[in-house]
Amino acid sequence: MTDAATTDVNAKFTPRVFSGIKPSGGLTLGNYLGAIKRFVDMQGGDFETIYCVVDLHAITVWQDPTELRNTTREVAAGFIASGIDPEQSVLFNQSQVSQHAELGWLFNCVARVGWMNRMTQFKDKAGSNAEKVSLGLYAYPSLMAADILLYHATHVPVGEDQKQHVELTRDIAQKFNHDFKVDFFPETNPVIEGPATRVMNLRDGAKKMSKSGESDMERINMTDDADTIAKKFKKAKTDPEPLPDTLDGLAGRPEARNLVDIYAALSDQTSQQVIAEYAGAGWGKFKPALADLAVDKLAPISTEMSRLMADPAEIDRILARGAERARAIAQPVLQQAYDIVGFVR
Ligand code: TYM
Repeated sequence: MTDAATTDVNAKFTPRVFSGIKPSGGLTLGNYLGAIKRFVDMQGGDFETIYCVVDLHAITVWQDPTELRNTTREVAAGFIASGIDPEQSVLFNQSQVSQHAELGWLFNCVARVGWMNRMTQFKDKAGSNAEKVSLGLYAYPSLMAADILLYHATHVPVGEDQKQHVELTRDIAQKFNHDFKVDFFPETNPVIEGPATRVMNLRDGAKKMSKSGESDMERINMTDDADTIAKKFKKAKTDPEPLPDTLDGLAGRPEARNLVDIYAALSDQTSQQVIAEYAGAGWGKFKPALADLAVDKLAPISTEMSRLMADPAEIDRILARGAERARAIAQPVLQQAYDIVGFVR
């Protein structure tokens, strides 16, 4: 995962994982396979694990306040229902730890406008409307760097779409260290592993599955019931060919590849193993098998999410406790950063 050079640079830092999810809509299968499932895998191993519902990021685009509160709790419930243990990991929502915004401001003064202009996610989101989007949307990647570096996190598990933001985090850490002649922030490693780091839209294999896509049929939501999951996979776009016997045989077949990758991630196999098992099978066989597998894995999570959501006060208590633990790590780091910069306190 880490090469020798990076390990050396980070030797003085506690191996620590940080990652976050925006409460800007319900969780999708993409969030689960590309992020949450992998967060669970990293828990209890060699790392301290810190997971965050990044509500400050969510408001870079308009959020209805009532909806935001609800979605923040729902994302927290999704973490816990999937296996994040709020004792073993630190689990909180970002706005309760004001140090994120404070370090974010410092990084706004470290990051260069030219760097931000290269962020492909901003370009995709702003589209032709770049003059009208919020300033927060533009500055978002420097707040993300603050999220990570506030905890001196050495590893950040994310889906493929966040790679550029983690690279920017490294650039910001390096520039800060260089400008102030310190060795204060680590070089964070993105951890982008497994068969489902980019789960695609079920109706168009060229587009990412996202919370905000137009049609509900193009994504699996973590709250979908068994019938809906089965229906969505049945109607997923494919091609007339059966499954090949090697992964190379899926080249140029993005929808087919996506379903194989989803199957692999859900069953903890490699895509190669799935192809070996289903070589020559048609969609009439593969899609129902995939739907059954997905229902098997996701139904217990969505049931547990509903149970947790019935007691929002308990979720709020868990988040408040997590925020307290997060602040205990974050505050000394922020104070040292302030000293390095030269603020009187
Ligand atoms: P967000 O909320 O868009 O997505 C949360 C996580 O889910 C992953 N993901 C996917 N993975 C595979 N296939 C997909 N279709 C898919 N869709 C989403 C994302 O890659 C991400 O890992 N900027 C981040 C949130 C953030 C963050 C951070 C992450 C804020 N601060 C610090 C890590 C560290 C975002 O918008 O993720």
